[in-house]
Amino acid sequence: MSHTVAPATQDLLVALRLALGDAHVLTDGDLSSYEQDWRKRVRGKALAVVRPGNTQEVAAVVKACAKAGVSVVPQGGNTGLVVGSIPDTSGTQVLLSLQRMNAVRAIDADNLTLTVEAGCVLQNVQHAAEQAGFLFPLSLGSEGSCTIGGNLATNAGGTQVVRYGNTRELCLGLEVVTAQGEVMHTLSGLRKDNTGYDLRNLMIGSEGTLGIITAATMKLYPLPAVSLTAWAAVPSVEHAVKLLGLAHQHLGAGLTGFEMMGQFALSLVDKHYPQLRVPLWQDTPYCVLLENSDTESEAHARSRFEHLLELAFEDGCVTDAVVAESLSQARNLWHIRESITLAQAEEGLNIKHDISLPVSAIPAFVASTDALLTREIEGVRIVNFGHLGDGNLHYNVQAPEGSDNQLFLQTQEDRVNTLVYDAVKALGGSISAEHGVGSLKVDTLPDYKDPVALALMRHVKRALDPQGLLNPGRVVR
Ligand code: FAD
Ligand code: MLT
Ligand code: ZN
Repeated sequence: MSHTVAPATQDLLVALRLALGDAHVLTDGDLSSYEQDWRKRVRGKALAVVRPGNTQEVAAVVKACAKAGVSVVPQGGNTGLVVGSIPDTSGTQVLLSLQRMNAVRAIDADNLTLTVEAGCVLQNVQHAAEQAGFLFPLSLGSEGSCTIGGNLATNAGGTQVVRYGNTRELCLGLEVVTAQGEVMHTLSGLRKDNTGYDLRNLMIGSEGTLGIITAATMKLYPLPAVSLTAWAAVPSVEHAVKLLGLAHQHLGAGLTGFEMMGQFALSLVDKHYPQLRVPLWQDTPYCVLLENSDTESEAHARSRFEHLLELAFEDGCVTDAVVAESLSQARNLWHIRESITLAQAEEGLNIKHDISLPVSAIPAFVASTDALLTREIEGVRIVNFGHLGDGNLHYNVQAPEGSDNQLFLQTQEDRVNTLVYDAVKALGGSISAEHGVGSLKVDTLPDYKDPVALALMRHVKRALDPQGLLNPGRVVR
């Protein structure tokens, strides 16, 4: 199909081809993997998809776009869940993919750091660390495709936050291309540096709206000598929280994972992936996946872990449990947990939430919001699971059995969001714990964010990106 391109746009495309070579400026063919979001809710249209191979090329793209007044949408693995990494439908935005920038630049064993380019797939970062004898602890269900740049841009959480923190806590330095196309060289491996405003932490979690991350220096940890995993049936959310308290008390820093999964969430895994053989789910409202990693001997760690489970049985927190006997059994249990997102996708679109609360408020939130939604929408199904150790739930709302998912979203999404987010706000929580704001929540955020904080965010955006060309319409308008 031929179409007319305005002369200024034509000049930009020429400049981009000169900077990157024709092969890395894509305007034709099937660009759906860049233009469609992971959940297939939204499809955009890019003016061009550009694939720079180094930091200077990223800077050249941003400069050329700034000169032409064209906006740039950075993209890593395109696994984001808040529609923040695809172009809008105007056909005027440049989609900048970091995927070709995937080198591990350096590993400093004495400093316990690794420096990687932004497009490095998370699993490859983990492997590079492991080959050097270290642990890079960030772990997400999407780790086979998400990139470290995307993890930093969203401040991703995942399943090890209870011990190692979010991506923010793992980062020491960044290399960033600014909205003006300049390169901020702050790739330091310093653990102490009080020389002014913390620009690194401003960039982390900014979802491509303040700068384009091209490389990062990340922390490494010793590989654990032993890792133990248990899958426990718990009679209620209160009991899961009580078990978490016991685990903190008895495992200390050895507690590396604490996930809670509701019965309906597990029933979806059982329905769509029966070969995974989900344990214990049929007779209990919730299951907990618990991980203890340590540097001490296996025998010592195992006896402490089993002691914790015995105490939990005595207290009535746990009614049944399976302890993995091998690494492969542990992997299978984690695989079940990580398959919930895919099982939901198989079931059809639902209304997705990613909320956080003080752990102490979670039982009250679940009890009152379950009751409220069940009262308001007959037959509603709640897919409740998440990182209970961090006070973070994916409290998703699925249409009643047999009804049209698309229609349910069209007619109920705003109403359900209001019910859920109002409950979150009343208990002092956040409407985005780890996925970010993107465009999915940009218009909801003002109702739930402190207005002074939001105004300061807008000032920061204007100061760093006065033309408003970096990922516009995401995070703040
Ligand atoms: P993208 O989706 O490409 O981009 C995400 C955002 O970052 C966009 O706003 C984009 O513009 C921006 N961006 C990307 N790269 C850069 C860069 N180099 N510089 C500046 N901005 C950039 N998230 C969690 O937090 N915890 C989980 O447990 C988790 N599990 C998931 C499981 C599955 C199966 C899936 C599909 C997703 C999951 N996610 C999870 C969400 C997602 O994987 C994370 O948000 C991830 O960090 C996104 O990385 P990405 O490379 O795919 O980024
Ligand atoms: C998870 O914890 O599995 C992810 O954040 C993905 C999701 O919310 O579906
Ligand atoms: Zn999550």
